[in-house]
Parts: sequence; structure tokens; C-alpha cells
Amino acid sequence: MKKILVTGGIGYIGSHTVVELYKAGYEAIIVDNLSNSKKSVLKRIEQITQTEIKFYENDVRDVAALDKIFTENKIDAVIHFAGLKAVGESVEKPLEYYNNNIIGTLRLLEVMKNHNCKNIVFSSSATVYGNPHTVPIEEHFPLSVTNPYGRSKLIIEEMLQDIYKADASMNIAILRYFNPIGALENGLLGEDPNGIPNNLCPYITKVAVGKLSHLNVFGNDYPTIDGTGVRDYIHVVDLARGHSLALQKLFTESGLFIVNLGTGRGYSVLEVVHEFAKILDKEIPYKIVERRAGDIATCYADCKFAEKLLNFKTEKTLTEMCRDALNFQLKNPNGYEDD
Ligand code: NAD
Ligand code: WQD
Repeated sequence: MKKILVTGGIGYIGSHTVVELYKAGYEAIIVDNLSNSKKSVLKRIEQITQTEIKFYENDVRDVAALDKIFTENKIDAVIHFAGLKAVGESVEKPLEYYNNNIIGTLRLLEVMKNHNCKNIVFSSSATVYGNPHTVPIEEHFPLSVTNPYGRSKLIIEEMLQDIYKADASMNIAILRYFNPIGALENGLLGEDPNGIPNNLCPYITKVAVGKLSHLNVFGNDYPTIDGTGVRDYIHVVDLARGHSLALQKLFTESGLFIVNLGTGRGYSVLEVVHEFAKILDKEIPYKIVERRAGDIATCYADCKFAEKLLNFKTEKTLTEMCRDALNFQLKNPNGYEDD
């Protein structure tokens, strides 16, 4: 059984991916400093996989701790989720973002090199495309970033390309996620942001259960079907499956590849709101407010390369994404806090 080190494996996408890894026949070892997640998620992953999972509560910037993990376990590949991800916070705290995301990745890559571990899957983001000139977005489109979070992703992508140039025996998958939403169908795993959510879907689920009074829709004067922003929402379980396909590729064919993980179709904010309302059979209260600084009108992926390279095609619809997100909110009214 191949051993996969999952950094940030207690977090939202990481936890769903660990479950997928077991389904695909891999063993996962998790390292997470719990800066944005709760330890109880581990118990839930163990319950779902019916497996005891090795967990190291460490920071990826702690070289001695990482070295110990690689010494104690023969790691075949790393999936690197660990990082900070809030765009607005990154503008306020650029040093924290550069330190955590860039130094964290650098240390990880150094320890991998010392232990001759050659395979890595990296969590990048559609944010590296900035404001695209056209949609759907193909992987070769020009890159540009407007905030420290996005810049940290772009810098790491460039670091990985340099490392590959210097050592072509490295196998590197750079995955650019579009907008992950949803939850595990059984409601045991989901998205549990701290405080008031920044992102659309976790905000709507809180409005849906009355924890927040209404949704603020950031602008209705974009050049889109109804004036509200259009995004490519991808079910987190589909996204997680993309990771096990990327690993499979790295284990069978060497090289570096960069691939979009999205559905290839965009939905507006109001379409998402109406989808939730349909499932709930009640209105989601919302107010149109000013545009949010830094937002773009439309963003969705061209998925042809993911299909060709990885045989990756999403299976879940927007209805399933919203239904599963709601189910998680209803079954876990205080997120993981009550565990
Ligand atoms: P998350 O915050 O839920 O998970 C990240 C995990 O990493 C958390 O459990 C956190 O405690 C841990 N972590 C952070 N810094 C660490 C460090 N220095 N050492 C060890 N652990 C650390 O976020 P997520 O939504 O699961 O995102 C995972 C990755 O995917 C991130 O790199 C993020 O930038 C990227 N990404 C996320 C989205 C999204 O919308 N969720 C979109 C594109 C890319
Ligand atoms: C989606 C749409 C908003 C909240 C962010 C990051 C990106 C990636 C995914 C990590 C937009 C609108 C939102 C609200 C609203 N993360 N909206 N009211 O901005 O596409 O992407 O998460 O890599 O880097 O930037 O996602 O969910 O915040 O917004 O009207 O309360 O919903 O304007 O059109 P975004 P989002």
C-alpha cells in the first residue's frame, strides 16, 4: 500500500481527500498544525474509513518534525494542502501568508529532497488567472495576481517548476481548483470556517438555518446573465477524487503537469441562491450591496485537459453540492465544535 503524506489533511479539502485515498487503496499519513481545523475531524475520518490514521500535530515549517515523519514512514508521495487561504486576510497580513505558504512549502520540499521523495501534488487555485480575458479558462492562459494569497500560490507554482527543471526525476502535479463547495454525502465531513464565512456557500447555509439574517450579494451590475458574479463550483468529493487520479498519474508517468479542476460550467450568485431555496422550499433572504473589492465577473474552467490527462470528469450537480452543504450544516449546527 503506497503511503501518502497529506499536509493539511484535517482541513476542508484535505479531509475529503483522505477518505478518497482510502477508497483508491492508498494509506494516508496526516500532518496538520490545526491552525484552521479541529482535531475531532480525525475521528470522523477514522469512522468513515474504519482505519486508524497516523496523525502528526505539527507545522510544516518545523523541519525536525517533518524529518521525523519521513524517517518513521517511507513516504511515496505528498499531497500538500497546508496553507492559509483567506484572500482578504492575506491583504491585512501579507507576512503571515508568505511565511506560512511559501516557507512551509520550501521546508517541505527540502525535507522531501533529503529523503529522496520525488512525488508531490500541490493545491493551487484558479485565483492565479486573475481577471481572465476570456472564459472558459485554459491552463496556458496568462497568470496574474492581485493579493498576497494569490501571489503565494503563483510563487510556489514557479518554485515547483524550477525544482522540476533542476531534477527531471521529480513528479509534480499542480492542481488549480475552482470553487470547491459541498460536503460528504453522509454529513460527517464538510466546510466549517471560523467566524463569519467569507465564501458564498458557507454563508448561504448559515442564512438557510437562521444563524445569519440574510446574504449580501456583492454587486448585480456585472456583465453576466443576471448581473451577479459567475463561478465554477465543484463538489469537494469530485475535487478529492481528482487528487487520487493525479497521484495515479504521477506514479505511472513521470513529469510535471498543471491542470484545472472545475466542472467547466459557471453559475451566478443568484442561481446558487435559487438552488438552495428550491431544496429548502423557502426563500433565502438577500440584499444587493456594493461589489466586493478584487472580485471578478466570471470565472470557469476549461476541463478538457483534466479529462484527457487524468480521465477526470465531475459527477456531481449543483443541486447535489447545495444539498450536501445544507445537510452538513443541519447535522452539525455548530460545525465540529460539538464533538
Ligand atoms: P483549510 O484551511 O480547511 O485546510 C488547510 C489545513 O492546513 C488546515 O487544517 C490548517 O490547520 C492546516 N495548516 C495551515 N497551515 C499549516 C502549517 N503551516 N502546517 C501544518 N498545517 C497547516 O483549507 P482548504 O479549503 O481545505 O484548502 C486546502 C488547500 O487548497 C489550501 O492550500 C488552499 O489554499 C487551497 N485552495 C482552497 C480553495 C478553497 O476555496 N477552499 C480553493 C483553491 C485552493
Ligand atoms: C463567489 C461569488 C462573490 C460571498 C475565493 C477565492 C479563491 C478561491 C475560492 C482559494 C462571488 C459572491 C460571496 C458573499 C457574495 N480560494 N459572494 N456574497 O471569490 O470566487 O473565490 O474562494 O484559492 O482564491 O478568491 O469565492 O465564494 O467568496 O465568492 O455575493 O457573502 O459569490 O462576489 O461572485 P471567490 P466566494
